[in-house]
Amino acid sequence: MTLLPYRRAGRSGLDLSAFSFGLWQKFGTDYAYETQREIVLHAFDLGITHFDNADRYGPPHRAAQQFFGTVLKRDLAPHRDELILSTKAGNPIGPGPYQRGASRKSLLGSLDQSLRDLGTDYVDIFYSHSPDLTTPLDETVSALAAAVQQGKALYAGISNYPADRAHEIAGLLRRAGVPLLVHQPRYSIFDRRPELTGLLEVAEEDGFGLVVYSPLAQGLLTDKYLDGVPAGARAQNSAFLSPDVIDETYRERITGLNKLAAQRGQSLAQLALQWVLRRPEVTSALIGASSTEQLDHNVKALDFAPLTDDELAVVDKYGVHGTGLRL
Ligand SMILES: NC(=O)c1ccc[n+]([C@@H]2O[C@H](COP(=O)([O-])OP(=O)(O)OC[C@H]3O[C@@H](n4cnc5c(N)ncnc54)[C@H](OP(=O)(O)O)[C@@H]3O)[C@@H](O)[C@H]2O)c1
Repeated sequence: MTLLPYRRAGRSGLDLSAFSFGLWQKFGTDYAYETQREIVLHAFDLGITHFDNADRYGPPHRAAQQFFGTVLKRDLAPHRDELILSTKAGNPIGPGPYQRGASRKSLLGSLDQSLRDLGTDYVDIFYSHSPDLTTPLDETVSALAAAVQQGKALYAGISNYPADRAHEIAGLLRRAGVPLLVHQPRYSIFDRRPELTGLLEVAEEDGFGLVVYSPLAQGLLTDKYLDGVPAGARAQNSAFLSPDVIDETYRERITGLNKLAAQRGQSLAQLALQWVLRRPEVTSALIGASSTEQLDHNVKALDFAPLTDDELAVVDKYGVHGTGLRL
């Protein structure tokens, strides 16, 4: 197996591969098993050892984890000690009161079901998927800590929490003896919230790592939409990326970024991935892919010289926060 660089998650003892692979889109029963299997195994062959899941991922909900459980059983079981498996709970997966939110009942119930889906005794990282303002933070912390203390997870994580709440939960978890390992926010050239809201500083201060999701803005930060929406692209077939965002403003910005990437001898996707990994607070870039070719292409992002200050200024000129984002 080729080894990608590993990066330390905050001030923990855990290293993660510089790229992590997520099964949010195009994994589940609506897609061909062999294609999904090939992508996951290819990611592993490229040195991606961190696989990110959630009870919600599918369609239908839980199907992505059940798929991964099958691959784990048939192909990856001998490598379990090389893998970092993550799951999350708390975003809605049904109408019931325990199928959403960050209560102890919801989080621990979902985790038990996720372990059954994945066919494993433990996950490496268990996340509270989103903040839940109706549940006391102490209760959420008690659930994350219990997951670790019961041996069902090795580490605790949070996702989508704003900087102030992340700081608060990091303190509570520390006092519970289960330090916060990672936070999973969205971060890309087009989503600057971790910079704008102080999350990068909180990560440094509290000693947790950032596993940043959608670093390609779901594909918007590649060259695929320069001339419209190609058949099969996410903007054509996903509820999470509307073709409406591909307008003149978007195209102008993407053209500027694409030109910069070409001057550096790389693609826009590679530039965008290198850009998020330039920050030491970022432990891993959490990517998706609909083909093995995309993975081969994207992991090469690490082969290029660091971005200079002048190049970063060009990224800032075209990388306007909010471009292409609806959610
Ligand atoms: N915590 C949360 O709330 C949360 C939310 C969202 C995501 N996540 C996690 O983050 C993971 C990654 O999210 P994401 O899929 O949005 O990440 P992304 O890396 O920004 O987007 C991946 C998509 O971009 C397109 N793409 C990738 N490489 C390409 C290339 N070289 N050229 C052209 N197109 C390319 C592909 O879409 P198409 O080919 O299909 O167009 C691919 O599926 C998820 O799977 C999930 O694990 C977490």
